[in-house]
Amino acid sequence: MHAIIEARKVEKSYGAEGDGLIQVIAPMDLAIYPGEILAVLGPSGSGKSTLLRMLTGLARPSGGEVIHHGHEVGGPCENVSIVFQSFALFPWLTVLENVAAPLKARGVPAAERTERSTKILDTVGLDGFENAYPKELSGGMKQRVGFARALVVEPEVLFMDEPFSALDVLTAENLRGELLELWQSHKMPTRAVFVVTHNIEEAVLLADRIIVLGKNPATIRTDFQVALERPRDRKDARFTNLVDYIYRVLTRPDLAPALQPVPAMAPRAKPKYQMLPHARRGAIAGLLEMLADHNGRDDMYRLAAALSFEIDDLLPVVDGAVLLGFAKLEEGDVEITAAGRAFAEADILRRKELFRTAALENIALIREITRSLEARADHTLPDGVFEDLLDEHFSEEEAKSQLETAIGWGRYAELFDHDSDTRRFFLPEEAAAAPPPEAVSH
Ligand SMILES: Nc1ncnc2c1ncn2[C@@H]1O[C@H](COP(=O)(O)OP(=O)(O)O)[C@@H](O)[C@H]1O
Ligand SMILES: [Mg+2]
Repeated sequence: MHAIIEARKVEKSYGAEGDGLIQVIAPMDLAIYPGEILAVLGPSGSGKSTLLRMLTGLARPSGGEVIHHGHEVGGPCENVSIVFQSFALFPWLTVLENVAAPLKARGVPAAERTERSTKILDTVGLDGFENAYPKELSGGMKQRVGFARALVVEPEVLFMDEPFSALDVLTAENLRGELLELWQSHKMPTRAVFVVTHNIEEAVLLADRIIVLGKNPATIRTDFQVALERPRDRKDARFTNLVDYIYRVLTRPDLAPALQPVPAMAPRAKPKYQMLPHARRGAIAGLLEMLADHNGRDDMYRLAAALSFEIDDLLPVVDGAVLLGFAKLEEGDVEITAAGRAFAEADILRRKELFRTAALENIALIREITRSLEARADHTLPDGVFEDLLDEHFSEEEAKSQLETAIGWGRYAELFDHDSDTRRFFLPEEAAAAPPPEAVSH
């Protein structure tokens, strides 16, 4: 999968050339991928904030380059936001004005600014505080304003520099939980989160992936996936073992290479897209009906004959049914699953529902398209975004073809639609557009 942001051999030194130039960050490779919460953990003064500033284009690297979607970053990036430890609110502006400020800077008209800011304030639990000033708010509420201001621009990547460090323990824990809730429910229009922290437990609680930095100069000591399901339990032995492991990496770097990985760690795996077979969903329905008729199981050749298919044409249909969890292969036979049988026996509307559930659960590409659209305020995205993702795994032609299949299946499931003129995906009309039931009955 393509990185959203990539640092290549990025380094940073402070001071004057020849006159005590100090290298704070040694040449470092680092990438931020879609779908992840990436935590960067390091002792104070190790260069975490410096790294964050370079990745967002706020600071220039002394060497190497930062790449956004394949292009070198020249100045502050438009499609990212930063939440700071110190909140960094404008004291002379109201809560609403603070949140609307980045929209104003981007030239968004006043009415839309107010609408979007009000909505995001509601999302972060600050409904009713629009006209308050920062000094009237507690630390936790100030940081909620910080989150609202970062999220209102719908950043592709949300950067956070020790966002919970200035808060008391309980407030910090609440806000972490709420952030995770927003992220997991896709209410946050953001494709990746980059969080800097010196708090080991915070990193293990939040992150899908953790990078541990050493200092003088900063180097990457370790980079791994956290294989703990959510919600995470701080008392779980796998949690505490991972915390201990990171503690040792931080405090005894000399021993780090000899440390055994712990069960809560997984090697960094690239998210994968399965190859979608080019099967029309009508053919999949036909196969499932036939299987249901044949006592739920039959051999590939008899099925092909019964459906008047060449065996080569049947294979992608069987693949499709298997991928969706509607069938499985048993010693050369195709066997219908419980989900497949439910589909075969359902009426048209129920079939759509079952197909929708199966596609969301089993097909990564369809899930990614749906979630990305849901996360956008305008519920639309150019199809090039997904073609880029697929280009990494498939030839250009196959990527297009994969997208075609996803469009066919997504359209049938009413998960999303696609306009071939504008080359954009969009969510189908909301059910809310239908007249209320009482209007129908009269
Ligand atoms: N503008 C600057 N000029 C000189 N030194 C700096 C500057 N900014 C940061 N540093 C130094 O770089 C090191 C890393 O700082 P920083 O990135 O803030 O670390 P962290 O966020 O991990 O605490 C520190 O030693 C700090 O003093
Ligand atoms: Mg810092």
